[in-house]
Amino acid sequence: VIVRMAVPTDSEACIHLLTRLPNYFAIDTHDVVRAALTTGSAWVALEHDELVGFAVAEHRHTKTAEITFAAVDPLRQGQGIGTHLVNAVFDHATKHGIVLIEVKTLDASSGYEPFVSTRAFWEARGFHQVDCIDPHPGWKPGNPAAILVAALTATRED
Ligand SMILES: CC(C)(COP(=O)(O)OP(=O)(O)OC[C@H]1O[C@@H](n2cnc3c(N)ncnc32)[C@H](O)[C@@H]1OP(=O)(O)O)[C@@H](O)C(=O)NCCC(=O)NCCS
Repeated sequence: VIVRMAVPTDSEACIHLLTRLPNYFAIDTHDVVRAALTTGSAWVALEHDELVGFAVAEHRHTKTAEITFAAVDPLRQGQGIGTHLVNAVFDHATKHGIVLIEVKTLDASSGYEPFVSTRAFWEARGFHQVDCIDPHPGWKPGNPAAILVAALTATRED
């Protein structure tokens, strides 16, 4: 599996991957992801030229960014591809002076089982939950947002 930065022609394969993850990405998210792929920085994971995962990150403030979307082919999850993608985001962000990276996901209070492993993934990648926002602006009712943050470097000197 190789990871490289996405190019515009990768978009439709990314959206096709989302259609295979209906428990995580409702159809109405597809256009949002399509737009994010053009405005943010995106990475794709390829195996034999087939797209098996992608991640999108967006610059938020001077030294902060957010991973807005991440997805791996359901048949290839748990094999390190998501980690590879997140590491590519971290490396790029570090080069650009980013010190904190945020990710938002479905909070445990939702009781929705598919996101148990998603939260475990982010925590294994160094993210810590700092808040739960419910309702989160723009999110449908009944979807409490877990806000997680990972530090790429120390943010204070003493
Ligand atoms: C979340 C996702 C991108 C991770 O990609 P992946 O390739 O499956 O992840 P990896 O194989 O690199 O890493 C799996 C890690 O998650 C952890 N993990 C996964 N499921 C777990 C579970 N049920 N309990 C505990 N840990 C779990 C593993 O311990 C592993 O961490 P480790 O490497 O430290 O052992 C992918 O599973 C996915 O697309 N999920 C559905 C969509 C989604 O949730 N997107 C993110 C929305 S915020």
